[in-house]
Amino acid sequence: MEKILDIITSKMQQAFADAGFDASFGRVTVSNRPDLCEYQCNGALAAAKQYKCAPIQIARAVAEKLAAADYSMIEAVMPGFINLKLSDHFLQTYLEEMRTAGSFGVPKLGRGKTVVIDYGGANVAKPLHIGHLRPAIIGEAMKRLYKFFGYNTIGDVHLGDWGLQMGLIIAELHERQPELPYFDPDFQGEYPAEAPFTISQLEEIYPTASAKKADPDFSRKAHQATFELQQGRRGYRAIWQHIMNVSVADLKKNYDNLNVHFEQWLGESDADPYIPAMVADMKARGIAVPSEGAWVIPVAQEGDKKEVPPCILVKSDGSSIYATTDLATMVQRMRDWHPDKMLYVTDKRQNLHFEQVFRAARKAGIVTPEVELEHIGFGTMNGSDGKPFKTRDGGVLRLETLISDMTDFVRAKVVENQIVSADAVEDTTRKIAMGALKYGDLSNQPTKDYNFDMERFAAFEGNTGPYILYTIVRIKSILAKYGPWESLPIQAPANPAAKELMLSVTKFAPALESALRSSAPNLVCAYIYELAGCVNKFYHETRILGEEDEHLKSGYIALIALAKNILETSINLLGFEAPEKM
Ligand code: ARG
Repeated sequence: MEKILDIITSKMQQAFADAGFDASFGRVTVSNRPDLCEYQCNGALAAAKQYKCAPIQIARAVAEKLAAADYSMIEAVMPGFINLKLSDHFLQTYLEEMRTAGSFGVPKLGRGKTVVIDYGGANVAKPLHIGHLRPAIIGEAMKRLYKFFGYNTIGDVHLGDWGLQMGLIIAELHERQPELPYFDPDFQGEYPAEAPFTISQLEEIYPTASAKKADPDFSRKAHQATFELQQGRRGYRAIWQHIMNVSVADLKKNYDNLNVHFEQWLGESDADPYIPAMVADMKARGIAVPSEGAWVIPVAQEGDKKEVPPCILVKSDGSSIYATTDLATMVQRMRDWHPDKMLYVTDKRQNLHFEQVFRAARKAGIVTPEVELEHIGFGTMNGSDGKPFKTRDGGVLRLETLISDMTDFVRAKVVENQIVSADAVEDTTRKIAMGALKYGDLSNQPTKDYNFDMERFAAFEGNTGPYILYTIVRIKSILAKYGPWESLPIQAPANPAAKELMLSVTKFAPALESALRSSAPNLVCAYIYELAGCVNKFYHETRILGEEDEHLKSGYIALIALAKNILETSINLLGFEAPEKM
């Protein structure tokens, strides 16, 4: 469906042309004075300069040419604005089309296009911590948004599964159980199918090993083990596979709990086979140049405001690094998926890394010029005191703990307020807690830091997830009392609150499009907050179920049902869902 702004802009352009002026002056914007009008056109002011006459004359001449049926008000006002209010008929027709169009008339802009979203960023063998919350939920929301616009979306978790942490675990395991067959270089048989550790043991082994990094002897062993693993030593590959199996199962469970799902569970290790040929090619073509024993790709560009250091491809000891893996991963993605876009969601402290990698990829021709590369560098989630989030003993908080804290907090409210029967407490609690957590995060501009505030995020009033959920639940309960509502048509607005609600409904597609284009799920939040506000205002000012005129009543029901469907679709894009009761 065409957006309202586009429809009335083209009508306005036609009116300018009909009145004898250049059509390009007919741009319409949403009014910045909603008390005076809904839409406005300031084109007459600019046209006045070109046509050397008073802007108000032009505005009046153009206003004459507009079709009266589309507007309840057309006003040419001094010095030369054209102010507009949409007619009831226009709104009714437009909303009815939204109601019946599928996806509420949001255009499938991405049809035939593929976008890879690299998010999550979990590291194998390390439990998810609080720093993994934002990439998971921002990435998931962006993926769902792309999908809604018809893109083919591929979410790839891009596991950190190939680095030093693997060598640390192998070295630690060797110290604890040197008798295991994995460490016997002469062992020819089959390795045990069962891992030599459980997930909780692994979660103890890794931090213990990591704490020993300062010990030069241990550190050397860990580096050596990493090197041999990457060279393909059989026993180490077998341990690695055990670590992967145990850890990935646990990661999947945790991401599932967050309602975050990846199409691909590839990792840094999967990029490894592409590295030798890629590096050889870059060396041969002079894309990579020697520098102090290493190989680097110079990526500084004219006009850089800050120094952009060369991208290191191969370190002086011959090993590859984070950037090498990211470049090789692009080779794999281009080969297998031919994406039109690759979108990365990580902490903003990785901004420079991605700038370097993107430039290197373009320079080396790994991606063709039309492939779009974007990095969303998000800000930090701090504690409610504005300081970095730490556990009481100063450690990093586990994501599971954060989620269970929020869940406990919400459960207490659900139980205390006797919201649902005992058997529905858990499901209701989980849905509200997810809404609180995700909306609390996503309602902030991704690049900004924000403070995690459990009480504020979980409040049922204000700009919160639970407030949105509450609004949905309220409408659902009215609809349930009414009876079948699915095929009721939209009617003309019956009162000012209805009109306001209808205008808000029409802004769904534009809000989503802005969110998509500027990678800003917060714009979806801002939109549904406004929409929920209009719903609640309408609810308070209108007797809905009590209305005696059945026809009128069915129009009210059709309108709130449409608003509910839009709210539910929106929270689904944000990655949470509404309970039945609240
Ligand atoms: N595992 C990385 C980390 O913990 C994040 C990976 C992000 N994605 C990427 N393609 N570099 O920082």
